[in-house]
Amino acid sequence: MRTHYCGELSKDNIDQTVEICGWVNRRRDHGGVIFLDMRDKRGIVQIVINPDNADFALAESIRNEFVLKITGQVIARGEGLVNPKLATGEIEIVATNIEILNTSKPIPFQIDSTDTSEEVRLKYRYLDLRRDEMQQRLRLRSKVTRFMREFMDGNDFLDIETPFLTKATPEGARDYLVPSRTHPGEFFALPQSPQLFKQLLMMSGFERYYQIVKCFRDEDLRADRQPEFTQLDVETSFMSEDEIMAMMEEMTRGLFKSVIDVNLPDKFPTITYADAMSLYGVDRPDMRIPMQITDMDKLMQGVDFKVFSGPASNDDSRVAALRVPGGATISRKKIDKYTKYVSIYGAKGLAYIKLNEDGPASPILKFLGDDVTAKVIEMTGAQTGDIIFFGADKTKIVNEALGNLREQLAKDLDLFESEWAPIWVVDFPMFDANDDGSLNAIHHPFTAPSVDAKTLEKTANTALSRAYDLVINGSEVGGGSIRIHQVEMQKTVLKLLGISDDEAKDKFGFFLDALEYGCPPHGGMAFGLDRLVMIMTGSDSIREVIAFPKTQTAACLLTDAPTSVPRKVLRELSIKVSLPEKD
Ligand code: AMO
Ligand code: AMP
Repeated sequence: MRTHYCGELSKDNIDQTVEICGWVNRRRDHGGVIFLDMRDKRGIVQIVINPDNADFALAESIRNEFVLKITGQVIARGEGLVNPKLATGEIEIVATNIEILNTSKPIPFQIDSTDTSEEVRLKYRYLDLRRDEMQQRLRLRSKVTRFMREFMDGNDFLDIETPFLTKATPEGARDYLVPSRTHPGEFFALPQSPQLFKQLLMMSGFERYYQIVKCFRDEDLRADRQPEFTQLDVETSFMSEDEIMAMMEEMTRGLFKSVIDVNLPDKFPTITYADAMSLYGVDRPDMRIPMQITDMDKLMQGVDFKVFSGPASNDDSRVAALRVPGGATISRKKIDKYTKYVSIYGAKGLAYIKLNEDGPASPILKFLGDDVTAKVIEMTGAQTGDIIFFGADKTKIVNEALGNLREQLAKDLDLFESEWAPIWVVDFPMFDANDDGSLNAIHHPFTAPSVDAKTLEKTANTALSRAYDLVINGSEVGGGSIRIHQVEMQKTVLKLLGISDDEAKDKFGFFLDALEYGCPPHGGMAFGLDRLVMIMTGSDSIREVIAFPKTQTAACLLTDAPTSVPRKVLRELSIKVSLPEKD
């Protein structure tokens, strides 16, 4: 239908007769002359319709977002009329023929406006996606998957599909269930990941598998979580964790270079989980921020300030300090705001010492005394003009409070030292304990421990796993592990997780059987594709890089899913709905 794309016309096309197709981005009436900004997937070009044009009356009926085909002649824009902001700003097309391919109702919001509410944007997502920014993001996303496929294919990985209608694959979230009509009262689970199937493929001898695949998790949503999201899922046989990490690192480096021209470091640094928690308060440290948390337990054990001495002497608690360069200018009001912020994580207060020109200042100086204060300054390396914040509570609370405060302060005070900071987190514990002492798998139940089964049984609370996470700019973009490949170890881990033999057989019987037929040592990893694209495009939310995302309450505003279904359909599925009574 067309000879050229709108966005690709230039001075080289002057005097040519061209045919373009697209949408009316904006129509302007200039006393007798009509200007149209015509938009297609490659960009925008200006059309001029003069009053002597036979189609002028037709042009007067044109509104924004009409779909047109325009034939015309490319001319240079007059002196002073060049638009340097537009790629095609040196030329315009004088229309000779206009064809309206389709009309459009007045659109519910201005396409290129940035203050449209997300609710409206999601309801009319097909219009929102016409925005240049959204087009760019999805185009970049497509480049990312293309690069991944090329890399994986180039390294002899095989793309193999795994089922969506399957049995629960535990990754720590709730399952989305699908009722079976042919097996009344029974349900499929949508996979939280292809974990078990990719391991089975290793047992089948494929040695290198990958898939760009949807995963489904019914969990509490956040800015970087969606109920259905996409992984680059990878599994290999006969490779050590170092070999797998090196290969995935190479993929990531190539990806950033090829898609956004960013040079990530030649070798990504590694940090242990224990150090990450102690120094940064989180297991996904943002290494762009130079601030570290300093442990104060030893120093504070003897002070005459119960808020500190209590947690300092308690095994499951800690006192820690966060030095903020240049933070002495933070106002009382702002400190109150940060105190409120850390209370989200359970912190009962946010003690601080300001290092003013005339010396340290703080409501807690009188409790600490000069010697301890001097020691705090020495240990944190604080200097005049800084502020030191303190957390004192259960270790989990202090870590979360100071860890998140560190990131918030970095944003507020612009304390980022570099633009890109990848890091591997390793030596995760195998399990974490619930209040009742029962254990959860930190990665998933198929991750190998770094000790043998006997030792694991004796040291379950402290044993480490062979898992690794890739963190970039404070975002966990991927995670994986070496897997258990011997059935006895798998049974031990399931037992430690409180899964009885019967339950294990019922849930994973097929998998435990498979482990007994010559399972090779294997391991792998999965990248969160949406998260990667989110950070590569600098987006604030994962919803900005997914064409048709769900809201925070896991609903689709465009299609209005989920919806109720007719009773007849439920009957076919042998399902009766019983809603809790409303208050
Ligand atoms: P994991 O559960 O760590 O590992 O998931 C891998 C990566 O997927 C991304 N991710 C998500 N992205 C968006 N929304 C979500 N709800 C969501 N949940 C996870 C994260 C995460 O790092 N089977 C294992 C991988 C393996 O061991 O090979 C797994 O799924 O970026
Ligand atoms: P208080 O003695 O409770 O008035 O607290 C004195 C200072 O210590 C205040 O600045 C509080 O914000 C702070 N504070 C109180 N509890 C904690 C805590 N658990 N962790 C850190 N600071 C705290």
